[in-house]
Amino acid sequence: MCSIIGYYGKETAAPIIVKGLKRMEYRGYDSVGVATESENQIGLKKGTGKVQEVNSKVQLETLPGRVGIGHTRWATHGKVTDVNAHPHPSNSGKIAIVHNGIIENFEELKKELESDGYVFKSETDSEIISNLLQKHHDQTKNVKETILKTVSQLKGHYSFVAMFEDGQLAAARFHEPLIIGVGKDDYFLSSDVLGFIEFTDNAIYMENGTFVIFDKNKFQISDFNGEQTGYEITKVSKEFGDAYKGDYAHFTLKEIYEQPETILKAGEKTSSEIEAATDYIRQAKNIYITGSGTSYNSALIAKQILSKYVKIKTESIMSSELQFDPNIIEENSILIAISQSGESADVLEAVKIAKNANCKIIAIVNLVTSSLAREADVVIGLNCGPEIGVAATKSFTSQLVILYKIVQKLSNNDITINFEDFSKSISKTLDNPTNIQKIAKELKEISDIYILGRGINYPIATESALKLKELTYIHAEGIAGGELKHGPLALMDSNVFVIILNPNDSTYSDTLTSAREIKARGAKIIGVSDVKSDVYDYWIEMPKINEVLYPISEIIPIQLLSYYAALEKDTDPDYPRNLAKSVTVK
Ligand code: F6R
Repeated sequence: MCSIIGYYGKETAAPIIVKGLKRMEYRGYDSVGVATESENQIGLKKGTGKVQEVNSKVQLETLPGRVGIGHTRWATHGKVTDVNAHPHPSNSGKIAIVHNGIIENFEELKKELESDGYVFKSETDSEIISNLLQKHHDQTKNVKETILKTVSQLKGHYSFVAMFEDGQLAAARFHEPLIIGVGKDDYFLSSDVLGFIEFTDNAIYMENGTFVIFDKNKFQISDFNGEQTGYEITKVSKEFGDAYKGDYAHFTLKEIYEQPETILKAGEKTSSEIEAATDYIRQAKNIYITGSGTSYNSALIAKQILSKYVKIKTESIMSSELQFDPNIIEENSILIAISQSGESADVLEAVKIAKNANCKIIAIVNLVTSSLAREADVVIGLNCGPEIGVAATKSFTSQLVILYKIVQKLSNNDITINFEDFSKSISKTLDNPTNIQKIAKELKEISDIYILGRGINYPIATESALKLKELTYIHAEGIAGGELKHGPLALMDSNVFVIILNPNDSTYSDTLTSAREIKARGAKIIGVSDVKSDVYDYWIEMPKINEVLYPISEIIPIQLLSYYAALEKDTDPDYPRNLAKSVTVK
Protein backbone atom coordinates (compact mmCIF):
# COMPACT_ATOMS: atom_id res chain seq x y z
CA MET A 1 0.00 0.00 0.00
CA CYS A 2 2.55 2.38 -1.05
CA SER A 3 1.91 5.15 -3.50
CA ILE A 4 3.68 5.27 -6.83
CA ILE A 5 3.81 8.13 -9.24
CA GLY A 6 5.35 8.97 -12.60
CA TYR A 7 5.62 12.13 -14.71
CA TYR A 8 6.42 12.44 -18.41
CA GLY A 9 6.14 15.88 -19.96
CA LYS A 10 7.42 19.34 -20.58
CA GLU A 11 7.72 20.65 -17.00
CA THR A 12 10.41 19.94 -14.42
CA ALA A 13 9.23 16.62 -13.03
CA ALA A 14 10.47 16.62 -9.41
CA PRO A 15 8.30 19.43 -7.92
CA ILE A 16 5.20 17.96 -9.61
CA ILE A 17 6.02 14.52 -8.21
CA VAL A 18 6.63 15.89 -4.69
CA LYS A 19 3.24 17.64 -4.79
CA GLY A 20 1.54 14.41 -5.84
CA LEU A 21 3.34 12.40 -3.17
CA LYS A 22 2.21 14.82 -0.45
CA ARG A 23 -1.39 14.16 -1.43
CA MET A 24 -0.93 10.42 -1.51
CA GLU A 25 0.94 10.14 1.76
CA TYR A 26 -2.18 8.59 3.30
CA ARG A 27 -1.20 5.36 1.47
CA GLY A 28 2.04 5.03 3.42
CA TYR A 29 4.41 7.41 5.14
CA ASP A 30 7.41 5.37 6.26
CA SER A 31 9.77 6.77 3.63
CA VAL A 32 9.77 8.72 0.41
CA GLY A 33 11.90 9.08 -2.71
CA VAL A 34 12.09 10.58 -6.18
CA ALA A 35 14.20 9.74 -9.24
CA THR A 36 14.39 11.75 -12.45
CA GLU A 37 16.11 11.45 -15.81
CA SER A 38 18.15 14.29 -17.22
CA GLU A 39 20.64 14.14 -20.09
CA ASN A 40 20.42 10.36 -20.17
CA GLN A 41 21.31 9.99 -16.51
CA ILE A 42 19.18 8.97 -13.58
CA GLY A 43 19.39 11.05 -10.39
CA LEU A 44 17.82 9.76 -7.18
CA LYS A 45 17.09 11.05 -3.67
CA LYS A 46 15.26 9.31 -0.85
CA GLY A 47 14.99 8.93 2.91
CA THR A 48 12.82 7.85 5.83
CA GLY A 49 10.06 10.10 7.12
CA LYS A 50 7.17 12.01 5.63
CA VAL A 51 7.37 13.90 2.34
CA GLN A 52 7.83 17.34 3.89
CA GLU A 53 10.53 16.10 6.24
CA VAL A 54 12.56 14.24 3.59
CA ASN A 55 12.15 17.06 1.11
CA SER A 56 13.61 19.57 3.59
CA LYS A 57 16.44 17.17 4.39
CA VAL A 58 17.52 16.15 0.88
CA GLN A 59 15.68 18.60 -1.43
CA LEU A 60 13.86 16.06 -3.56
CA GLU A 61 12.43 18.93 -5.60
CA THR A 62 15.79 20.04 -6.94
CA LEU A 63 16.35 16.94 -9.09
CA PRO A 64 16.53 18.07 -12.74
CA GLY A 65 14.68 16.57 -15.72
CA ARG A 66 11.26 16.28 -17.33
CA VAL A 67 10.69 12.60 -16.63
CA GLY A 68 10.51 11.18 -13.13
CA ILE A 69 9.11 8.69 -10.65
CA GLY A 70 8.25 8.92 -6.97
CA HIS A 71 7.12 6.79 -4.06
CA THR A 72 5.83 6.84 -0.50
CA ARG A 73 6.31 3.58 1.37
CA TRP A 74 4.29 1.47 3.76
CA ALA A 75 6.85 -1.12 4.76
CA THR A 76 6.05 -4.77 4.01
CA HIS A 77 9.40 -6.41 3.15
CA GLY A 78 12.25 -4.91 5.12
CA LYS A 79 12.54 -2.30 7.84
CA VAL A 80 11.94 1.43 7.54
CA THR A 81 15.41 2.50 6.38
CA ASP A 82 16.88 4.81 3.75
CA VAL A 83 18.16 1.84 1.75
CA ASN A 84 14.75 0.17 1.69
CA ALA A 85 13.09 3.40 0.51
CA HIS A 86 12.10 3.56 -3.18
CA PRO A 87 13.01 4.27 -5.97
CA HIS A 88 15.29 1.28 -6.40
CA PRO A 89 17.93 1.58 -9.13
CA SER A 90 19.14 -1.46 -11.04
CA ASN A 91 22.78 -2.47 -10.51
CA SER A 92 23.94 -0.50 -13.51
CA GLY A 93 21.93 2.58 -12.42
CA LYS A 94 20.36 2.68 -15.90
CA ILE A 95 16.84 1.84 -14.72
CA ALA A 96 14.97 2.89 -11.57
CA ILE A 97 11.62 1.64 -10.35
CA VAL A 98 8.90 2.38 -7.82
CA HIS A 99 6.59 -0.43 -6.79
CA ASN A 100 3.34 -0.94 -4.90
CA GLY A 101 2.26 -4.44 -3.86
CA ILE A 102 3.98 -7.70 -3.12
CA ILE A 103 6.16 -9.89 -5.34
CA GLU A 104 5.44 -13.33 -3.94
CA ASN A 105 8.25 -15.16 -5.74
CA PHE A 106 10.91 -12.54 -5.02
CA GLU A 107 13.21 -14.91 -3.11
CA GLU A 108 13.35 -17.33 -6.02
CA LEU A 109 13.92 -14.52 -8.55
CA LYS A 110 16.53 -12.92 -6.32
CA LYS A 111 18.54 -16.17 -6.18
CA GLU A 112 18.41 -16.44 -9.97
CA LEU A 113 19.57 -12.85 -10.40
CA GLU A 114 22.30 -13.29 -7.80
CA SER A 115 23.62 -16.27 -9.70
CA ASP A 116 23.75 -13.97 -12.76
CA GLY A 117 25.95 -11.61 -10.73
CA TYR A 118 23.37 -9.05 -9.59
CA VAL A 119 23.91 -7.62 -6.12
CA PHE A 120 21.04 -6.51 -3.89
CA LYS A 121 21.34 -3.61 -1.50
CA SER A 122 17.89 -3.53 0.10
CA GLU A 123 15.74 -6.08 1.93
CA THR A 124 12.75 -5.31 -0.29
CA ASP A 125 10.96 -7.53 -2.77
CA SER A 126 10.77 -4.49 -5.06
CA GLU A 127 14.47 -4.30 -5.91
CA ILE A 128 14.23 -7.50 -7.95
CA ILE A 129 12.00 -5.65 -10.45
CA SER A 130 14.70 -3.14 -11.36
CA ASN A 131 17.36 -5.83 -11.84
CA LEU A 132 15.01 -8.12 -13.73
CA LEU A 133 14.19 -5.25 -16.06
CA GLN A 134 17.90 -4.53 -16.39
CA LYS A 135 18.66 -8.13 -17.29
CA HIS A 136 15.98 -8.26 -19.98
CA HIS A 137 16.78 -4.82 -21.30
CA ASP A 138 20.46 -5.71 -21.68
CA GLN A 139 19.34 -8.67 -23.80
CA THR A 140 16.51 -7.14 -25.85
CA LYS A 141 17.42 -3.41 -25.96
CA ASN A 142 13.67 -2.90 -26.27
CA VAL A 143 11.40 -1.59 -23.51
CA LYS A 144 8.25 -3.44 -24.63
CA GLU A 145 10.06 -6.80 -24.80
CA THR A 146 11.67 -6.02 -21.45
CA ILE A 147 8.35 -5.39 -19.71
CA LEU A 148 6.74 -8.45 -21.28
CA LYS A 149 9.56 -10.72 -20.16
CA THR A 150 9.58 -9.19 -16.68
CA VAL A 151 5.84 -9.43 -15.99
CA SER A 152 5.81 -13.02 -17.23
CA GLN A 153 8.16 -13.86 -14.33
CA LEU A 154 6.53 -11.87 -11.54
CA LYS A 155 3.99 -13.49 -9.21
CA GLY A 156 1.87 -11.58 -6.73
CA HIS A 157 0.03 -8.28 -6.78
CA TYR A 158 1.81 -5.25 -8.12
CA SER A 159 1.91 -2.06 -10.00
CA PHE A 160 5.23 -0.46 -10.84
CA VAL A 161 6.66 2.45 -12.79
CA ALA A 162 10.07 2.05 -14.42
CA MET A 163 12.23 4.84 -15.77
CA PHE A 164 15.00 4.15 -18.28
CA GLU A 165 18.13 6.26 -18.65
CA ASP A 166 17.10 7.34 -22.17
CA GLY A 167 13.96 8.94 -20.67
CA GLN A 168 11.42 6.26 -21.58
CA LEU A 169 8.84 5.62 -18.89
CA ALA A 170 6.87 2.39 -18.52
CA ALA A 171 4.35 1.14 -15.99
CA ALA A 172 2.52 -2.15 -15.40
CA ARG A 173 -0.59 -3.00 -13.43
CA PHE A 174 -1.47 -6.36 -11.91
CA HIS A 175 -4.11 -6.31 -9.13
CA GLU A 176 -2.88 -2.99 -7.71
CA PRO A 177 -4.28 0.36 -8.83
CA LEU A 178 -2.63 2.43 -11.54
CA ILE A 179 -4.13 5.42 -13.29
CA ILE A 180 -2.83 7.54 -16.17
CA GLY A 181 -3.50 11.27 -15.98
CA VAL A 182 -3.68 12.90 -19.40
CA GLY A 183 -2.64 16.55 -19.34
CA LYS A 184 -2.31 19.05 -22.17
CA ASP A 185 1.36 18.50 -22.79
CA ASP A 186 2.17 15.87 -20.25
CA TYR A 187 1.23 12.52 -18.72
CA PHE A 188 1.03 11.32 -15.14
CA LEU A 189 0.98 7.89 -13.59
CA SER A 190 -0.39 7.40 -10.12
CA SER A 191 -1.89 4.94 -7.65
CA ASP A 192 -4.70 7.42 -7.04
CA VAL A 193 -6.12 10.38 -8.96
CA LEU A 194 -5.06 12.55 -6.02
CA GLY A 195 -1.51 12.20 -7.35
CA PHE A 196 -2.31 14.40 -10.37
CA ILE A 197 -5.74 15.96 -9.88
CA GLU A 198 -4.20 19.39 -9.42
CA PHE A 199 -2.92 19.20 -13.01
CA THR A 200 -5.57 17.29 -14.93
CA ASP A 201 -8.96 15.68 -14.43
CA ASN A 202 -8.65 13.38 -17.48
CA ALA A 203 -7.88 9.88 -16.30
CA ILE A 204 -7.38 6.47 -17.87
CA TYR A 205 -7.99 3.64 -15.40
CA MET A 206 -5.57 0.98 -16.58
CA GLU A 207 -7.07 -2.49 -16.91
CA ASN A 208 -5.63 -5.29 -14.87
CA GLY A 209 -2.82 -7.10 -16.68
CA THR A 210 -1.80 -4.19 -18.91
CA PHE A 211 1.22 -1.92 -19.23
CA VAL A 212 1.95 1.44 -20.78
CA ILE A 213 5.07 2.88 -22.40
CA PHE A 214 5.71 6.60 -22.85
CA ASP A 215 8.17 7.52 -25.55
CA LYS A 216 8.59 10.54 -27.81
CA ASN A 217 5.56 12.29 -26.26
CA LYS A 218 3.23 9.41 -27.10
CA PHE A 219 2.02 6.41 -25.19
CA GLN A 220 0.87 2.92 -25.98
CA ILE A 221 -1.04 0.53 -23.73
CA SER A 222 -0.69 -3.24 -24.25
CA ASP A 223 -1.82 -6.36 -22.44
CA PHE A 224 0.53 -8.93 -20.96
CA ASN A 225 0.46 -10.82 -24.29
CA GLY A 226 1.87 -7.77 -26.02
CA GLU A 227 -1.38 -6.91 -27.84
CA GLN A 228 -2.15 -3.20 -28.03
CA THR A 229 -5.38 -2.38 -26.15
CA GLY A 230 -7.86 0.48 -26.34
CA TYR A 231 -8.59 2.86 -23.49
CA GLU A 232 -11.19 5.27 -22.28
CA ILE A 233 -10.57 8.72 -20.85
CA THR A 234 -12.77 9.40 -17.81
CA LYS A 235 -13.38 12.82 -16.24
CA VAL A 236 -12.72 12.55 -12.53
CA SER A 237 -14.32 14.72 -9.92
CA LYS A 238 -12.15 17.77 -9.23
CA GLU A 239 -13.65 17.77 -5.77
CA PHE A 240 -11.16 15.04 -4.88
CA GLY A 241 -8.39 17.52 -5.36
CA ASP A 242 -9.93 19.67 -2.70
CA ALA A 243 -8.06 17.97 0.10
CA TYR A 244 -6.70 20.76 2.25
CA LYS A 245 -6.83 21.11 5.99
CA GLY A 246 -7.99 24.71 5.83
CA ASP A 247 -8.05 26.22 9.32
CA TYR A 248 -8.03 22.85 11.05
CA ALA A 249 -4.93 21.51 12.77
CA HIS A 250 -5.43 18.07 11.24
CA PHE A 251 -7.37 16.42 8.42
CA THR A 252 -8.98 14.12 11.00
CA LEU A 253 -10.45 17.08 12.90
CA LYS A 254 -11.62 18.72 9.67
CA GLU A 255 -13.27 15.50 8.57
CA ILE A 256 -15.01 15.02 11.94
CA TYR A 257 -16.36 18.57 11.68
CA GLU A 258 -17.56 18.07 8.10
CA GLN A 259 -20.11 15.50 9.22
CA PRO A 260 -23.17 17.73 9.63
CA GLU A 261 -22.70 18.46 5.92
CA THR A 262 -21.55 15.05 4.66
CA ILE A 263 -24.49 13.35 6.35
CA LEU A 264 -26.79 15.45 4.19
CA LYS A 265 -24.78 14.71 1.07
CA ALA A 266 -24.57 10.93 1.58
CA GLY A 267 -26.14 9.13 -1.32
CA GLU A 268 -27.25 12.47 -2.82
CA LYS A 269 -28.44 12.07 -6.42
CA THR A 270 -28.34 8.28 -6.10
CA SER A 271 -32.07 7.61 -5.71
CA SER A 272 -32.09 5.41 -8.82
CA GLU A 273 -29.12 3.43 -7.49
CA ILE A 274 -30.82 3.06 -4.10
CA GLU A 275 -33.96 1.93 -5.96
CA ALA A 276 -31.91 -0.61 -7.94
CA ALA A 277 -30.23 -1.84 -4.75
CA THR A 278 -33.56 -2.32 -2.99
CA ASP A 279 -34.94 -4.20 -6.02
CA TYR A 280 -32.01 -6.60 -5.85
CA ILE A 281 -32.39 -6.98 -2.08
CA ARG A 282 -36.13 -7.66 -2.31
CA GLN A 283 -35.59 -10.44 -4.82
CA ALA A 284 -32.48 -11.99 -3.33
CA LYS A 285 -32.46 -15.45 -1.82
CA ASN A 286 -29.52 -14.55 0.45
CA ILE A 287 -27.93 -11.23 1.29
CA TYR A 288 -24.36 -10.92 2.52
CA ILE A 289 -22.74 -7.71 3.68
CA THR A 290 -18.99 -7.32 3.82
CA GLY A 291 -16.26 -4.80 4.64
CA SER A 292 -13.03 -4.38 6.59
CA GLY A 293 -12.25 -2.38 9.71
CA THR A 294 -14.66 0.52 10.05
CA SER A 295 -16.54 -0.58 6.96
CA TYR A 296 -17.09 -3.96 8.61
CA ASN A 297 -18.59 -2.17 11.62
CA SER A 298 -21.00 -0.54 9.14
CA ALA A 299 -21.82 -4.02 7.85
CA LEU A 300 -22.68 -5.10 11.42
CA ILE A 301 -25.04 -2.13 11.79
CA ALA A 302 -26.56 -2.92 8.39
CA LYS A 303 -27.38 -6.45 9.51
CA GLN A 304 -29.18 -5.14 12.60
CA ILE A 305 -31.20 -2.38 10.95
CA LEU A 306 -32.28 -4.59 8.05
CA SER A 307 -33.54 -7.14 10.54
CA LYS A 308 -35.01 -4.68 13.03
CA TYR A 309 -36.85 -2.34 10.68
CA VAL A 310 -37.68 -4.42 7.60
CA LYS A 311 -37.29 -8.01 8.85
CA ILE A 312 -34.71 -8.91 6.22
CA LYS A 313 -32.19 -11.51 7.30
CA THR A 314 -28.61 -10.95 6.22
CA GLU A 315 -25.19 -12.26 7.05
CA SER A 316 -22.35 -9.83 7.76
CA ILE A 317 -18.95 -11.20 6.87
CA MET A 318 -15.51 -9.80 7.62
CA SER A 319 -13.96 -9.49 4.15
CA SER A 320 -10.58 -10.90 5.21
CA GLU A 321 -12.23 -14.04 6.59
CA LEU A 322 -14.38 -14.97 3.60
CA GLN A 323 -11.57 -16.66 1.68
CA PHE A 324 -11.31 -19.26 4.48
CA ASP A 325 -14.98 -20.17 4.20
CA PRO A 326 -16.06 -19.30 0.65
CA ASN A 327 -18.82 -21.94 0.67
CA ILE A 328 -20.84 -19.69 2.94
CA ILE A 329 -21.79 -17.74 -0.21
CA GLU A 330 -24.72 -19.42 -1.91
CA GLU A 331 -25.13 -19.06 -5.67
CA ASN A 332 -27.23 -16.23 -7.12
CA SER A 333 -27.29 -14.13 -3.97
CA ILE A 334 -26.42 -10.49 -3.28
CA LEU A 335 -23.23 -9.15 -1.75
CA ILE A 336 -23.28 -5.62 -0.37
CA ALA A 337 -19.63 -4.52 -0.26
CA ILE A 338 -18.86 -1.46 1.87
CA SER A 339 -15.58 0.41 1.48
CA GLN A 340 -14.38 3.97 1.70
CA SER A 341 -11.50 3.55 -0.74
CA GLY A 342 -12.92 0.79 -2.92
CA GLU A 343 -9.37 -0.54 -3.09
CA SER A 344 -9.08 -2.76 0.03
CA ALA A 345 -7.64 -6.05 -1.22
CA ASP A 346 -9.71 -8.04 1.28
CA VAL A 347 -12.96 -6.49 0.07
CA LEU A 348 -12.01 -7.03 -3.58
CA GLU A 349 -11.22 -10.68 -2.78
CA ALA A 350 -14.64 -11.09 -1.13
CA VAL A 351 -16.24 -9.61 -4.26
CA LYS A 352 -14.30 -12.03 -6.44
CA ILE A 353 -15.55 -14.99 -4.39
CA ALA A 354 -19.14 -13.73 -4.61
CA LYS A 355 -18.89 -13.12 -8.36
CA ASN A 356 -17.60 -16.65 -8.84
CA ALA A 357 -20.82 -17.77 -7.17
CA ASN A 358 -22.87 -15.69 -9.61
CA CYS A 359 -23.85 -13.10 -7.04
CA LYS A 360 -24.78 -9.51 -7.82
CA ILE A 361 -22.65 -6.86 -6.16
CA ILE A 362 -23.92 -3.66 -4.56
CA ALA A 363 -21.03 -1.33 -3.71
CA ILE A 364 -21.31 1.42 -1.10
CA VAL A 365 -18.12 3.32 -1.73
CA ASN A 366 -16.59 6.79 -1.54
CA LEU A 367 -14.39 6.54 -4.63
CA VAL A 368 -16.87 5.78 -7.37
CA THR A 369 -14.06 5.25 -9.87
CA SER A 370 -12.34 2.65 -7.66
CA SER A 371 -11.71 -1.01 -8.44
CA LEU A 372 -14.68 -2.02 -6.26
CA ALA A 373 -17.03 0.34 -8.09
CA ARG A 374 -15.90 -1.08 -11.40
CA GLU A 375 -16.67 -4.64 -10.23
CA ALA A 376 -20.16 -3.78 -8.94
CA ASP A 377 -23.62 -4.04 -10.52
CA VAL A 378 -24.92 -1.12 -8.48
CA VAL A 379 -22.70 1.66 -7.08
CA ILE A 380 -23.90 4.02 -4.36
CA GLY A 381 -21.43 6.84 -3.71
CA LEU A 382 -20.81 8.14 -0.18
CA ASN A 383 -20.23 11.58 -1.69
CA CYS A 384 -18.36 12.75 1.41
CA GLY A 385 -15.29 14.09 -0.41
CA PRO A 386 -11.74 12.92 0.13
CA GLU A 387 -11.00 11.39 3.50
CA ILE A 388 -7.30 11.88 4.13
CA GLY A 389 -7.05 11.14 7.87
CA VAL A 390 -6.10 7.48 8.07
CA ALA A 391 -8.78 6.74 10.66
CA ALA A 392 -12.19 6.62 9.02
CA THR A 393 -14.62 9.21 10.42
CA LYS A 394 -16.97 10.94 7.99
CA SER A 395 -16.97 7.95 5.62
CA PHE A 396 -18.38 5.79 8.45
CA THR A 397 -21.34 8.07 9.17
CA SER A 398 -21.99 8.47 5.42
CA GLN A 399 -22.03 4.69 5.01
CA LEU A 400 -24.59 4.45 7.81
CA VAL A 401 -26.79 7.16 6.29
CA ILE A 402 -26.86 5.27 2.98
CA LEU A 403 -27.72 2.04 4.76
CA TYR A 404 -30.55 3.82 6.57
CA LYS A 405 -31.78 5.23 3.26
CA ILE A 406 -31.87 1.70 1.81
CA VAL A 407 -33.83 0.50 4.84
CA GLN A 408 -36.20 3.45 4.53
CA LYS A 409 -36.83 2.58 0.90
CA LEU A 410 -37.36 -1.09 1.74
CA SER A 411 -39.93 -0.06 4.36
CA ASN A 412 -41.79 1.91 1.66
CA ASN A 413 -40.94 5.03 3.64
CA ASP A 414 -42.68 3.76 6.80
CA ILE A 415 -39.60 4.85 8.73
CA THR A 416 -39.37 8.59 8.84
CA ILE A 417 -35.98 10.19 9.30
CA ASN A 418 -35.38 13.91 9.24
CA PHE A 419 -31.75 14.14 8.24
CA GLU A 420 -31.83 17.97 8.32
CA ASP A 421 -32.73 18.01 12.02
CA PHE A 422 -30.24 15.25 12.66
CA SER A 423 -27.47 17.23 11.00
CA LYS A 424 -28.27 20.18 13.30
CA SER A 425 -28.08 17.97 16.37
CA ILE A 426 -24.62 16.77 15.32
CA SER A 427 -23.47 20.37 14.91
CA LYS A 428 -24.53 20.98 18.52
CA THR A 429 -22.27 18.16 19.76
CA LEU A 430 -19.39 19.45 17.65
CA ASP A 431 -19.87 23.05 18.73
CA ASN A 432 -19.28 22.17 22.39
CA PRO A 433 -16.09 20.14 22.61
CA THR A 434 -14.90 21.49 26.01
CA ASN A 435 -16.30 18.64 28.10
CA ILE A 436 -14.83 16.07 25.70
CA GLN A 437 -11.46 17.83 25.76
CA LYS A 438 -11.48 17.62 29.58
CA ILE A 439 -12.26 13.91 29.54
CA ALA A 440 -9.51 13.37 26.93
CA LYS A 441 -6.96 14.72 29.45
CA GLU A 442 -8.01 11.96 31.89
CA LEU A 443 -7.13 9.32 29.30
CA LYS A 444 -3.55 10.49 28.91
CA GLU A 445 -1.97 8.05 31.36
CA ILE A 446 -4.28 5.07 31.10
CA SER A 447 -3.40 1.87 29.29
CA ASP A 448 -6.79 0.14 28.94
CA ILE A 449 -10.19 1.38 27.95
CA TYR A 450 -13.35 -0.62 27.33
CA ILE A 451 -16.46 0.44 25.47
CA LEU A 452 -19.71 -1.27 26.29
CA GLY A 453 -22.91 -1.31 24.27
CA ARG A 454 -25.83 -3.64 23.69
CA GLY A 455 -27.84 -4.44 20.58
CA ILE A 456 -27.26 -1.89 17.85
CA ASN A 457 -24.87 0.00 20.10
CA TYR A 458 -22.44 -2.93 20.18
CA PRO A 459 -21.01 -2.36 16.65
CA ILE A 460 -20.56 1.28 17.69
CA ALA A 461 -18.60 0.00 20.70
CA THR A 462 -16.28 -1.94 18.37
CA GLU A 463 -15.96 1.08 16.08
CA SER A 464 -15.20 3.27 19.11
CA ALA A 465 -12.49 0.84 20.20
CA LEU A 466 -10.99 0.94 16.70
CA LYS A 467 -10.89 4.77 16.74
CA LEU A 468 -9.27 4.87 20.19
CA LYS A 469 -6.67 2.25 19.25
CA GLU A 470 -5.73 3.92 15.99
CA LEU A 471 -5.55 7.47 17.25
CA THR A 472 -4.23 7.05 20.81
CA TYR A 473 -2.50 3.63 20.82
CA ILE A 474 -4.37 2.89 24.07
CA HIS A 475 -5.52 -0.71 24.29
CA ALA A 476 -9.27 -0.48 23.63
CA GLU A 477 -11.92 -3.17 23.39
CA GLY A 478 -15.61 -3.18 22.56
CA ILE A 479 -17.78 -5.31 24.86
CA ALA A 480 -21.33 -6.51 24.20
CA GLY A 481 -23.09 -5.53 27.44
CA GLY A 482 -24.54 -8.95 28.18
CA GLU A 483 -21.14 -10.59 27.81
CA LEU A 484 -19.64 -8.58 30.66
CA LYS A 485 -20.51 -11.18 33.28
CA HIS A 486 -19.15 -13.96 31.02
CA GLY A 487 -15.56 -12.79 31.33
CA PRO A 488 -14.63 -9.12 30.80
CA LEU A 489 -15.79 -8.21 34.34
CA ALA A 490 -12.55 -9.81 35.54
CA LEU A 491 -10.65 -6.92 33.91
CA MET A 492 -12.42 -4.17 35.80
CA ASP A 493 -10.48 -2.30 38.48
CA SER A 494 -9.57 1.24 39.39
CA ASN A 495 -6.99 1.48 36.59
CA VAL A 496 -9.45 1.25 33.73
CA PHE A 497 -11.94 3.55 32.07
CA VAL A 498 -15.17 2.21 30.57
CA ILE A 499 -17.25 4.11 28.06
CA ILE A 500 -20.90 3.16 28.34
CA LEU A 501 -22.94 3.69 25.17
CA ASN A 502 -26.30 4.17 26.72
CA PRO A 503 -28.91 5.99 24.66
CA ASN A 504 -32.47 5.90 25.89
CA ASP A 505 -33.51 2.92 23.76
CA SER A 506 -34.55 -0.63 24.62
CA THR A 507 -31.03 -1.40 25.88
CA TYR A 508 -30.99 1.49 28.36
CA SER A 509 -31.75 -0.11 31.74
CA ASP A 510 -29.74 -3.30 31.13
CA THR A 511 -26.75 -1.21 30.11
CA LEU A 512 -27.12 0.98 33.19
CA THR A 513 -27.04 -2.19 35.32
CA SER A 514 -23.77 -3.19 33.60
CA ALA A 515 -22.40 0.27 34.36
CA ARG A 516 -23.22 -0.18 38.07
CA GLU A 517 -21.51 -3.59 38.13
CA ILE A 518 -18.40 -2.05 36.59
CA LYS A 519 -18.45 0.94 38.92
CA ALA A 520 -18.65 -1.39 41.92
CA ARG A 521 -15.23 -2.74 40.84
CA GLY A 522 -13.69 0.73 40.93
CA ALA A 523 -13.47 1.50 37.19
CA LYS A 524 -14.22 5.03 35.98
CA ILE A 525 -17.35 5.37 33.88
CA ILE A 526 -17.84 7.70 30.92
CA GLY A 527 -21.52 7.65 30.02
CA VAL A 528 -22.56 8.56 26.47
CA SER A 529 -26.27 9.10 26.81
CA ASP A 530 -29.16 11.50 26.41
CA VAL A 531 -30.09 10.77 30.04
CA LYS A 532 -27.92 11.84 32.97
CA SER A 533 -27.11 9.28 35.66
CA ASP A 534 -25.15 9.39 38.91
CA VAL A 535 -23.37 6.20 37.82
CA TYR A 536 -21.34 8.20 35.33
CA ASP A 537 -18.11 9.78 36.55
CA TYR A 538 -18.15 11.75 33.30
CA TRP A 539 -21.20 12.37 31.15
CA ILE A 540 -21.10 13.02 27.41
CA GLU A 541 -24.55 14.32 26.65
CA MET A 542 -26.12 13.00 23.48
CA PRO A 543 -28.81 15.07 21.79
CA LYS A 544 -32.39 13.82 22.13
CA ILE A 545 -33.15 12.54 18.65
CA ASN A 546 -35.13 9.95 16.75
CA GLU A 547 -34.07 6.63 18.30
CA VAL A 548 -33.36 5.19 14.84
CA LEU A 549 -30.33 7.47 14.54
CA TYR A 550 -28.70 6.84 17.93
CA PRO A 551 -25.83 4.77 16.45
CA ILE A 552 -24.68 7.56 14.15
CA SER A 553 -25.08 10.14 16.86
CA GLU A 554 -23.05 8.31 19.51
CA ILE A 555 -19.93 7.73 17.40
CA ILE A 556 -19.38 11.48 16.85
CA PRO A 557 -18.31 12.32 20.45
CA ILE A 558 -16.11 9.20 20.50
CA GLN A 559 -14.34 10.36 17.33
CA LEU A 560 -13.73 13.71 19.02
CA LEU A 561 -12.61 12.06 22.26
CA SER A 562 -10.15 9.86 20.34
CA TYR A 563 -8.81 12.88 18.47
CA TYR A 564 -8.29 15.01 21.60
CA ALA A 565 -6.81 12.05 23.52
CA ALA A 566 -4.36 11.63 20.61
CA LEU A 567 -3.31 15.25 21.06
CA GLU A 568 -2.82 14.64 24.80
CA LYS A 569 -0.66 11.61 24.01
CA ASP A 570 1.24 13.52 21.35
CA THR A 571 0.53 11.02 18.58
CA ASP A 572 -0.17 12.12 15.00
CA PRO A 573 -3.93 11.74 14.55
CA ASP A 574 -3.77 11.96 10.76
CA TYR A 575 -1.10 9.33 10.31
CA PRO A 576 -1.22 6.65 13.05
CA ARG A 577 1.96 4.62 13.23
CA ASN A 578 2.20 1.42 11.14
CA LEU A 579 -1.07 2.05 9.29
CA ALA A 580 -2.08 3.22 5.83
CA LYS A 581 -5.39 4.46 4.56
CA SER A 582 -5.86 2.17 1.64
CA VAL A 583 -4.88 -1.43 2.41
CA THR A 584 -4.30 -2.93 -1.00
CA VAL A 585 -2.46 -6.02 0.26
CA LYS A 586 -4.07 -9.12 1.74
C1 F6R B 1 -10.38 2.48 10.51
C2 F6R B 1 -9.94 2.38 9.15
C3 F6R B 1 -9.75 1.03 8.55
C4 F6R B 1 -10.57 0.94 7.26
C5 F6R B 1 -10.35 -0.40 6.57
C6 F6R B 1 -11.21 -0.55 5.33
O1 F6R B 1 -10.42 3.80 10.95
O2 F6R B 1 -9.75 3.37 8.49
O3 F6R B 1 -10.09 0.03 9.44
O4 F6R B 1 -11.92 1.10 7.60
O5 F6R B 1 -9.00 -0.52 6.21
O6 F6R B 1 -10.96 0.45 4.40
P1 F6R B 1 -11.98 0.74 3.22
O7 F6R B 1 -13.24 1.22 3.84
O8 F6R B 1 -11.30 1.76 2.38
O9 F6R B 1 -12.18 -0.56 2.50
